Amino acid sequence: MGYQLIDGKATATAIKQQIAEEVKGILSKGGKQPHLAAVLVGHDGGSETYVKNKVLACEQCGFKSTLIRFEADVTEEELLACVGQLNKDNDVDGFIVQLPLPKHIDEQKIIMAIDYRKDVDGFHPINVGRMAIGLPCFISATPLGILTLLQHYNIPTSGKKCVILGRSNIVGKPMAQLMIQKHLGDATVTVCHSRSKTLKEECREADIIIAAIGVPNFVTEDMVKEGAVVIDVGTTRVPDATAKNGFKLTGDVKFDEVAPHCSYITPVPGGVGPMTICSLMKNTLSAGKKEFYQ
Ligand code: GUN
Repeated sequence: MGYQLIDGKATATAIKQQIAEEVKGILSKGGKQPHLAAVLVGHDGGSETYVKNKVLACEQCGFKSTLIRFEADVTEEELLACVGQLNKDNDVDGFIVQLPLPKHIDEQKIIMAIDYRKDVDGFHPINVGRMAIGLPCFISATPLGILTLLQHYNIPTSGKKCVILGRSNIVGKPMAQLMIQKHLGDATVTVCHSRSKTLKEECREADIIIAAIGVPNFVTEDMVKEGAVVIDVGTTRVPDATAKNGFKLTGDVKFDEVAPHCSYITPVPGGVGPMTICSLMKNTLSAGKKEFYQ
């Protein structure tokens, strides 16, 4: 059976072009250039790449960007002070603190300190809560990117059985909220995780599988129904001596054996990853326009 590859890179490029056009329009009318700030702690390879790509995307969209770096031994107080300054800075429309943070820093405390009106990651409890009840808010970037991809490819979700693998605050939980939301996903949603006893059986019944557990090649062909839609959020760095940077970005889905059974599938890389960054740009544009909050 032929499957269609969902091209996240091309979709993200098209959306970033639309955003850039809108920014040109704003600037031509004397409006303010959207400004995203990113806080990066330490030198984790994955985080460095994400933040570099976020800064690059800002350039592509015509945004201003500011990168604030701290060494891994930064104190919680110093980081909270930085968040406080960004909250107050009228030129900064939105900002993110790249996760994960070093163990000695309470991540939740940092997220809670962010002004929810600038929380373009959608991690603050006010945004999480507003999303859960369908109010205007910042929606976290990966789930929003996945929803945008499904819509872009006209993949129906209404009434479908959707299985989400993983229950993280960043992907699994918000994804489940969006997929059950009226007029958004409208799907029947099952969330499976490391304690689920019937994970394989649930997957086999699914019309849509969204894998976000961070276990390379976890989803195998015996878990996928013929014609299913498979979205792979995994981006684990697996050592690979033949790769020029020494690793291969590996998804949660065993692509080669699963793809022939799918109607649609996302690749890794080039699937969900670029859409996450594109959604952050959408959120930053909304923050610049003060779309959600006065
Ligand atoms: N770490 C992994 N994904 C994300 C994200 O979307 N935002 C932030 N701030 N950190 C992350």
